[in-house]
Amino acid sequence: MLNLKDSALLKSQCYIDGTWWDANSRFDVRNPANGQLLAEVADADPALTERAALAAQKAQKNWAAKPAAERSAILRRWYELLVSHQQDLACLMTAEQGKPLAESRAEVTYGASFVEWFAEEAKRMYGDTIPAPSADKRILVLKQPVGVVAAITPWNFPNAMITRKAAPALAAGCSIVVRPAELTPLSALALAELAERAGIPPGVFNVVTGTNAKAMGEVLTQHPAVDKFSFTGSTAVGKQLIAQCAGTVKRVSMELGGNAPFIVFDDADLDAAVKGAIASKYRNAGQTCVCANRFLIQEGIYDEFAERLVAAAKGLKVGHGLQEGVQIGPMIHAQAATRVEQLVQDALAQGAKRLTGGPLQDLGDNFYAPTVLTGVSNGMAIAEQEIFGPVAPLISFKDEAQALALANDTEMGLAAYCYSRDIGRIYRMGERLQFGMVGLNEGIISNVTAPFGGIKASGNGREGSKYGLDEYTEIKYLCLGGIDNA
Ligand code: SIN
Repeated sequence: MLNLKDSALLKSQCYIDGTWWDANSRFDVRNPANGQLLAEVADADPALTERAALAAQKAQKNWAAKPAAERSAILRRWYELLVSHQQDLACLMTAEQGKPLAESRAEVTYGASFVEWFAEEAKRMYGDTIPAPSADKRILVLKQPVGVVAAITPWNFPNAMITRKAAPALAAGCSIVVRPAELTPLSALALAELAERAGIPPGVFNVVTGTNAKAMGEVLTQHPAVDKFSFTGSTAVGKQLIAQCAGTVKRVSMELGGNAPFIVFDDADLDAAVKGAIASKYRNAGQTCVCANRFLIQEGIYDEFAERLVAAAKGLKVGHGLQEGVQIGPMIHAQAATRVEQLVQDALAQGAKRLTGGPLQDLGDNFYAPTVLTGVSNGMAIAEQEIFGPVAPLISFKDEAQALALANDTEMGLAAYCYSRDIGRIYRMGERLQFGMVGLNEGIISNVTAPFGGIKASGNGREGSKYGLDEYTEIKYLCLGGIDNA
């Protein structure tokens, strides 16, 4: 059915303590493009989730005690296995998530890049020495692993959002329990199979699959065996999970929702801006936290930008992700497509105009064509909520001050984009946009070398880059007294 070269990558049990575990019941995983049943996967209950947390606790100290070079070499083997199984991992991803195969291949490369990067960073978990305040003392700073990490990961990037957390955790000497979204567990389980082949010891990397998100989340956020909790998902759920972590005062990292403004000034290179807009907006059918959510276009080029964006959006091929040339796959489920259309209808009722796009029911209820709306204003729901779909709402602005005010007028602070050929303006906007990441004349900002993360209600913590390891380390200071200075 899936035509994998390595059929052992298709797993359907939880991976706990180096063993494949069944649960009392199973749940269906279906292809969002056609509803086809892909697998029946173990539906873990809280007891099985707890078993994973305890296995991670048991394994963590021995893993942390290994020399960094040894942890690094094992991670490097995992990276090589991810790269050599790219096609199979991509096929699994397209089957369960829907994104076009080329995007799935790119995500596998992106996901593997975190494993490669942190295999290197494991060797650079340097401490510090600090000049002491008195002659008889010496001050040393050690970096130590936080301990056991629990992670809840989303369906939109079923591979990379796991490796972006697991690779730095393992590099630092932590163990981890991952609870992937129930819509996309197969990519996570394939990662576990390759982790085992790479020689990651039992209990260090665990995957628990299941549909009872609330009960599993309670174990992972409240269990005393878990020291750190990391989440990628919506702000509403993130707030609840942070509250649940308070009881045991766990460290938390939160990659939450976005509402990215994409600002284009009159003096921008319009070809580059349209190219960036297409890349940012329609990646993964708009189901990306960092994708442009509101387009703020300066009055003088508003009509021309709209015309060019419509032409480019119309050129995108929508269909089943495994079909040749498809650039926009299905949305994750029919409710997601319906919600997007409701936001569009609400905007239309308030005077917006749809220039192209809308539901594509000929292909199925999950399909939604790349859409462009004009006449949108910041107060409309479509500009205030995270659309998470392939819709580009265009808002017009007069000058830099207004663009900045509109852009920052949101509780979110994940990503923003700005196009202009005025270097002074570009720099000012970069400094003044209240977001964790800003693309300046660039629509694709995610890569392993850069710190990914938001401010305000978009969360805290940074993933990837040299800062990514800090999320999984504690700083300990040793004060040596009684040093003889004679
Ligand atoms: C996300 O949507 O949460 C992550 C996207 C990315 O890493 O670019």
